[in-house]
Amino acid sequence: MATTTYTVGLPSDERWLESIAWGPTGVEHGPSPIANTGRTPYLTAADGAPVEYVPFGLRPFTGADLVLDQEVFWRFDGADEATPTTLRLAFADDLTGLRAVLCYQVSPATDVLLRWVELTNGGPDELRVNQVDSAGFSVPVDTAELTFLTGRWAHEFQREQVVLPAGRFEIGSSQGVPGHQFVPWLAVQDTAGGPAWGVSLAWSGSWRIAADVEITGALRVRAGRAGSAIRLAPGETLVAPQVAGAYSTEGLDGVARAFHAHERELAGSRLDRVRPVQYNSWEATEFAVEEESQLALARIAADLGAELFVVDDGWFDGRHDDTTGLGDWTPDPAAFPNGFAAFIEQVKALGLGFGLWVEPEAVSPKSRLYRDHPDWVYRIDGRPGTLIRNQLLLDLGREDVFEFVRTMFDRLLTDYPIDYVKWDMNRPPTPRGRPGEPSADLDGDHVRNYWRLLDHLRETYPDVLIEGCAGGGGRVELATIARTDVVWPSDNTAPMDRLNIQYGFLHAHAPHVMSSWVTDHPGFFDTRPKSLRFRFVTAMAGVLGIGADIRHWSPEQRAEAAAHVALYKSIRSTVHHGEVHLIGAPGDPSCAAQYSHGSRTVVLAWQTGDLDGTPALPGRQSRFPLRALDPLATYRDGDGAEYSGAHLLHAGLPITFTPTHDADVVVLDRLP
Ligand code: DGJ
Repeated sequence: MATTTYTVGLPSDERWLESIAWGPTGVEHGPSPIANTGRTPYLTAADGAPVEYVPFGLRPFTGADLVLDQEVFWRFDGADEATPTTLRLAFADDLTGLRAVLCYQVSPATDVLLRWVELTNGGPDELRVNQVDSAGFSVPVDTAELTFLTGRWAHEFQREQVVLPAGRFEIGSSQGVPGHQFVPWLAVQDTAGGPAWGVSLAWSGSWRIAADVEITGALRVRAGRAGSAIRLAPGETLVAPQVAGAYSTEGLDGVARAFHAHERELAGSRLDRVRPVQYNSWEATEFAVEEESQLALARIAADLGAELFVVDDGWFDGRHDDTTGLGDWTPDPAAFPNGFAAFIEQVKALGLGFGLWVEPEAVSPKSRLYRDHPDWVYRIDGRPGTLIRNQLLLDLGREDVFEFVRTMFDRLLTDYPIDYVKWDMNRPPTPRGRPGEPSADLDGDHVRNYWRLLDHLRETYPDVLIEGCAGGGGRVELATIARTDVVWPSDNTAPMDRLNIQYGFLHAHAPHVMSSWVTDHPGFFDTRPKSLRFRFVTAMAGVLGIGADIRHWSPEQRAEAAAHVALYKSIRSTVHHGEVHLIGAPGDPSCAAQYSHGSRTVVLAWQTGDLDGTPALPGRQSRFPLRALDPLATYRDGDGAEYSGAHLLHAGLPITFTPTHDADVVVLDRLP
């Protein structure tokens, strides 16, 4: 890893692997800070050991990572693979025939370690896996402070902290998607402050992350899939999802930067694809989509400098509200009387790319698809389906449903010149049944085919950008991020609410994946009015888009918006490639986000609390102490003002806020 070491060791009896050290390179030279140096009275040795990964049986009382319907006692069975960046260590249990390979993978360029487990049933009988975590991480804190991201629809990514002196803390989802309630991410620090450790799961289905205070006082974090038992037939292998672990001496901000670097690595060469400024029609026209209004919006969007026009929900046959149409993915001929292709051509003639919303896993009871294939939804014979948002969910794990969705995408993407797909998902599956296959791994099957479809889109249509969405931020995790270009964090686009959501989001995920629109929304939770500038600067913190009804914007507003879009384009690459430092929080009187890349630093700053009366009253400018600059260098802003690095680091970047100037963008270039 770039600056971190993760060390494991095999005790002499070779029954389990132990964690030795996880910290800055070199930390492993010395006695392990996580070792149990005492006895383990009234319990087994495994119960007090900083185990890497153990089954129930071998560790009977203090928490195991793998729970079968019978106890498992395994032994080290050799190293499957050991390269400078990968390690695969096998453990086998003679009695059950279970073989587990503990897998480790690191990247020399980041401080992120990937861990997962592969279980193979080498015995003659089916094994029932009741719980399978991907990994357990031992963290050498005295008293743990946990940071997690929680919320609900339209209120996702709220950062919360809790001190855990004893016992267990657990977050998760049983919704078949990560859900709006918790993000599959957790960070740990000691209450004394200092370094931080983080975990982030790459799984698009139900999950859990648990943190237990061990009997040694250390903290052990386990992360993995959740849900019903999984049956493993003889000879079958179950690959658990990857969980990413990150360590940073720079606390939560440093852990966030490690995960950002990991997500940039996941994007590979697609990181260099410019994420276009999109206009999205949803908030302006909702289901009332038809050619004339969309073209009116597109014309103005093009004038504002948008690069992409996305037609959201409402474009397809029979879709007049949320009760109908899902599944019938053909453009509504009444809404596009001249043909959909001709409509797209007109959008493109404005210099805009064209994007389209779909919700491939959904079906309306009132649709041709449901009439023809009522058996394709999750269901239990003899029980009525449950409608959520007036729709049902297709059992995507079925091969025929997978084929239907693949063909639907192939048809849309070959019939029309589509540059961008927004993949939405607006309800979790229930009831959770597939008649005839009572013990199928429904969650695993659904996720596998969701990934296969995204992989198919990537491979077959590499030029098409993909936005991941699930009623806002219901499916934001590393596996989706690895297969999409941006994700939609929340349906809440109100200025102060959004700033808070994005503040939480950036703790776990990178700015180049954070889609954000400027809208007219007054606010769900915080209705304080904010300027157009404030809303633009907020959306500039990630991938800028516009979702307002711009037909009603005055010429002055449009001119101002065009200037913001032009400014964003000039800072976009620094925002998307830069190292992020979050300065203050939206709950403070003011806060900022710093992005540094090469010799350029961009600071986005927001006035989030009360004004103090300056300049009408005595007072001082707001100051934002920047980070990671060279104290001896000189930095010049866009107005020509020069500051020493020491001044910016220690006195802080000065910004004057007024009632109308409630946000700012400062671009600083380091002078040679
Ligand atoms: C939920 C999404 O989060 C919104 O952006 C929008 O696409 C609606 N669905 C459309 O139904």
